[in-house]
Amino acid sequence: MINEKKLDKDLKRVMPSLKEARIRRNKEVETINFQIDPKYINLGKDKTYFIYTYGCQGNEADSEIMAGILEAIGYKHSEDPLLADIVLLNTCAIRENAEQRIWGVLGQLKGRKRNNPDLLIGICGCMPQEENATNKLLESYPFVDIIFGTHNRGNLPKLIFDAYLSKATVVEVISGEGNILENTPKVRESKTKAWVHIMYGCDEFCTYCIVPYTRGKERSRAKEDIINEVNELVKEGYIEVTLLGQNVNAYGKDLGNGEYTFGDLLFDIDKTGIERVRFTSPHPRDMDDRAMEAMAKCKSVMPHLHFPVQSGNDRVLKIMNRKYTREIYLEKIKKLKELVPGISITTDIIVGYPGETYEEFKDTVSLVEEAEFEGAFTFIFSPREGTPAFSMEDPISLEEKHKWFDELVEHTNKGYLNGHEKFIGKIVKVLVDGESKSGDGMLCGYSEHNKLTHFKSDDLSLVGKIVNVKVTEAKTWFMIGELCE
Ligand code: 5AD
Ligand code: SF4
Repeated sequence: MINEKKLDKDLKRVMPSLKEARIRRNKEVETINFQIDPKYINLGKDKTYFIYTYGCQGNEADSEIMAGILEAIGYKHSEDPLLADIVLLNTCAIRENAEQRIWGVLGQLKGRKRNNPDLLIGICGCMPQEENATNKLLESYPFVDIIFGTHNRGNLPKLIFDAYLSKATVVEVISGEGNILENTPKVRESKTKAWVHIMYGCDEFCTYCIVPYTRGKERSRAKEDIINEVNELVKEGYIEVTLLGQNVNAYGKDLGNGEYTFGDLLFDIDKTGIERVRFTSPHPRDMDDRAMEAMAKCKSVMPHLHFPVQSGNDRVLKIMNRKYTREIYLEKIKKLKELVPGISITTDIIVGYPGETYEEFKDTVSLVEEAEFEGAFTFIFSPREGTPAFSMEDPISLEEKHKWFDELVEHTNKGYLNGHEKFIGKIVKVLVDGESKSGDGMLCGYSEHNKLTHFKSDDLSLVGKIVNVKVTEAKTWFMIGELCE
C-alpha cells in the first residue's frame, strides 16, 4: 500500500523532557474530540494487532482505547501475538522491576523482527515519558518502530503511517500537562465490567512517585461526559463500572469553582442505574465527608475501599509528602467503618523508604493491625530517576528491606484471611466472571466486598450475572462457597 520511503532526515522526533514534565501551568485543559483523519482509515486493512499491557488499571483502560483506534483503521485483533503485524507494549514505570520486564520482552521481540522485518513494534505508556528510557530504547533497541507517550495515544494512526514510511524509529513523547481526549473508540475486554476514567494525571508529587511526571497534571473529565458514558454502558448491559484516576477523589478540583466533588459524582452515577460502582485509587487527604456520605448512601457504590496509606509513621509520611498523619488516616477509616458497616479496606504500602528505620517500619506493621486491612499491595521502595526520593540517602541494604517486607507480609496475609473468614456461613452476592482457573467445574467472581469467590457450577449462563453464594470456606486469597438457588 505504501511504496515510497520517506527520507528519514524529514522525520522530526518529539523527545520527552523531565524538566517540562515537572511544570504545572495555570492554563485551561483542552478537551479534544477524537477523530480519525480519513487518509488513515484503511491503514490496517488485512493486518492484525496485539497489545501487551503492563501496570495499573489505567493502562488496561488505555489499551482498550488503543485497540479501538487500531480497529477503527482496519486492524483486526490477533489471538496469537506471534502472528500479529503490529505489536504494542503498553508499559509501566512505577518500579524498576516493571521496566526490567519490558527490556526482557523487547529482547524476545528482536528475534521476531529479524525473521519478519514487516512487523511493527511500538512502545507506549509511562516508560517512554522517562528521558533515560527513551534514550536507551533508541540506542539499544533500534528495531523498535514507534515510541509514543501517554499524551500521544490519539495520534496513533499518524505514528503508524510515519513508521511504515520510515526506517528510523518514530518518536512522539510530549511531556506537557496533557489534554482530555473524548469520543475515542474502545474495544472493552469485558461485557459486564467496564473501566471509566473520570480524571487523568496527578498533582500530589509524592516524593517517591514517577506518575506526576509521566501522566501530567490533574485533569477531570466533564461530569456530563462521564454520566453519558455510564448511561451508555447501562444500556449495553454492563453491571459494574470502576472509576479510574491517579487521584480519583481529587475529581472536580480543576473544574469551574471546584464545588462539584467526587462525592457528588458518585451520587449522580448512582442515579444512572448501574448496579455496581468501584473506584481506584483515592488519596486519603482528599477523602472528604461528601465522598464518605456517598459511599454510605449510594446503593451502587460497593462496600470496599482501596485506600493507599504507604506508611504508618508520621516522619516517613511527611518526607513522602503524603500530607496526612497516621492519626488522620485512622480517623478517616474509623468514620468510614461507622458509615459503611462491614466495609472492607485494603491498602498500598511501601517498605524501606530512604532513611526509614526499623522502628519506623514497625509503626507500619502496627497500623496494619490497627486498621484491620483486609488486603495490601506491598512494595519495596524502588528509586525512580527524577523523583526527589531518588537522590535521598538510603543506608538500609536491599537484603534488610526484604526481611522487613517478609515480616510485613505475614501481617497483611493474616488480614486477607480474616477478611474472608468473617463471611463463613453468610450469603454473598457474586458477579460471575467465568470459570475458575483451577478448572474442576468451578465458577468464580467477586463479592460486593471485592472478595474473590469460587463455587461449584458448570452453568456458564451464569457468567455476567450476580448470584447468591453461601460461603463455606476461607483461604488467604479467596473464599469457597455453594450456589444458592
Ligand atoms: N517504589 C515502590 N513503590 C511505589 N509505588 C509508587 N511509587 C513507588 C516506588 N518508587 C507504589 C505506591 C502506590 C502504588 C501504585 O505503587 O504504593 O500506591
Ligand atoms: Fe503517585 Fe502519590 Fe499521585 Fe498516587 S497520589 S499517583 S502515589 S504521586
